[in-house]
Amino acid sequence: MEGTSVHRLLALISLLSCSTNQAGLTVSPSRSQFFKGDSVSLSCEEDNISAGWTVRRNTTRGTRTQCGDGWGKPAGSSCNISSLYKHETGVYWCESREGAASSSIQLTVSGGSVILQSPVLPVMEGDDVTLSCQTKTPSNLPAAFIKDGSLIRTEPTGHMTLHHVTSSDEGLYKCNISGHGESPSSWISVSEKTTTPDPPPATASIFIRLVCHLVVLVPYIISTLLLVSLYRQRTTGKVPPVWKMTSSFHAGQGLDVDYDDAMTTVTTEDYF
Ligand SMILES: *[C@@H]1O[C@H](CO)[C@@H](O)[C@H](O)[C@H]1NC(C)=O
Ligand SMILES: *[C@@H]1O[C@H](CO)[C@@H](O)[C@H](O)[C@H]1NC(C)=O
Ligand SMILES: *[C@@H]1O[C@H](CO)[C@@H](O)[C@H](O)[C@H]1NC(C)=O
Repeated sequence: MEGTSVHRLLALISLLSCSTNQAGLTVSPSRSQFFKGDSVSLSCEEDNISAGWTVRRNTTRGTRTQCGDGWGKPAGSSCNISSLYKHETGVYWCESREGAASSSIQLTVSGGSVILQSPVLPVMEGDDVTLSCQTKTPSNLPAAFIKDGSLIRTEPTGHMTLHHVTSSDEGLYKCNISGHGESPSSWISVSEKTTTPDPPPATASIFIRLVCHLVVLVPYIISTLLLVSLYRQRTTGKVPPVWKMTSSFHAGQGLDVDYDDAMTTVTTEDYF
């Protein structure tokens, strides 16, 4: 029946337009450097669970390898690594079954005894960012912070805060604790602040879905009202049973919809 096809088409459009298919990789604990033997949990925070997001990585030992395929323990759209090796240093990202990819994250596993704790995700322009220089057993030892090969300053407790970061703070950072050694380097990127602050991702996605559903729902309501009013016009006076009505009318999109479908239209709203 053509009316049903219209509804199927609308449902398909709503599926295509409302699943924004985005995911972000989150790292727990939230840092980009780890000691050999540390554990880490990687999660794809997804918009659309059915898209089947998995964690993948590029290391010197393989490209695009999937969690569970020789490394990590998959748990839904998350991946746990219980004991990191140095060779697991690499680029990690989330990828959907259809091949859509999230932005990627560089993780570094140090075989040494010092790491730099720096933000995993780009930091917002104007924000304050604290970098920590850590030894294996947490301590507050004095540390030297180095950016792009030059010493910035030495901090007596091993923590350095960059106030109101700008794009000039972007660069390759490392730290050094005398008597313990130097950390690997990590790139810190600063993203431009948009003039209107973005709503939190969850709210944004709910809003997008709401708009999507409204866009799809409005034609439904209009067509339902049209059909109901048409039905009333035709049935004033004598009321024949609905199932005996076989005549069809021309709908806005130039497709024939019969009265059985008028009833489906009403019930289809239950999907939303
Ligand atoms: C992973 O490696 C492949 C092959 O070298 C490359 O095409 C791809 O861009 C890499 N992915 C990331 C996120 O770096
Ligand atoms: C993965 O790691 C998280 C956090 O460390 C933990 O809560 C969760 O139980 C782990 N899942 C599996 C399947 O090991
Ligand atoms: C960094 O560590 C080395 C030893 O690994 C040391 O000789 C050097 O003085 C340290 N640099 C700074 C800036 O503290």
